[in-house]
Amino acid sequence: MARLKVGVVISGRGSNLQALIEAARDPAYPAEIVLVVSNVPGTGGLARAEQAGIPAETVDHRGFVGRQPFEEALTGTLERAGVELVCLAGFMRIVTEGFIAHWHDRLINIHPSLLPAFPGLDTHARALAAGVKLAGCTVHFVRAEVDHGPIVGQAAVPVLPGDTADALAARVLEAEHRLFPLCLRLVAEGRVRVAHEATEIDGLGPPGAPLINPAPE
Ligand code: GRF
Repeated sequence: MARLKVGVVISGRGSNLQALIEAARDPAYPAEIVLVVSNVPGTGGLARAEQAGIPAETVDHRGFVGRQPFEEALTGTLERAGVELVCLAGFMRIVTEGFIAHWHDRLINIHPSLLPAFPGLDTHARALAAGVKLAGCTVHFVRAEVDHGPIVGQAAVPVLPGDTADALAARVLEAEHRLFPLCLRLVAEGRVRVAHEATEIDGLGPPGAPLINPAPE
């Protein structure tokens, strides 16, 4: 079976990219990463791609006047590599409607909160300030509104007494590294349908036990 050709777009250290690279090492995984693009030169994620022997390019947004020419260059770079689906993995630029429309339902993002709670930045500090007992992450199809769009999957983790934003971020990040490869697999297998701005996923097993925090005594 042909594997889905995926481009991963990053801005930083690329730990989620790494999780996708590890998953795609398995020849049975239904997606292959054909290109990594960073908008920031010299990032850790680019080094990870090179280490894994995956083509990596930099499209530096600072070399363009305005978002649209930058995004057109990004799309061109992805398409020249034959990319069919784009994963945003720590891409720290807002994308505009033209890019989103071009990649409609072929563009997924990971966000470090249980959307629709805490879209935007500083999610962990905001979750702590709100006193939530569960935090987590979301993989979703990208829509024009920032951090919105049909949800493919979510992972929840407990917020623990004494948590700092950094401690919570580290716990959520571990969950991200499990969730993103799972969601990409489901999408690449063609099992995820978008209907009425939500997703339906074929052939799922029974759900896991509820995560309750505080843990029942
Ligand atoms: C992750 O927390 C991701 O959810 C957010 O940016 C961070 C990127 O981390 N969008 P990394 O570059 O994948 O390590």
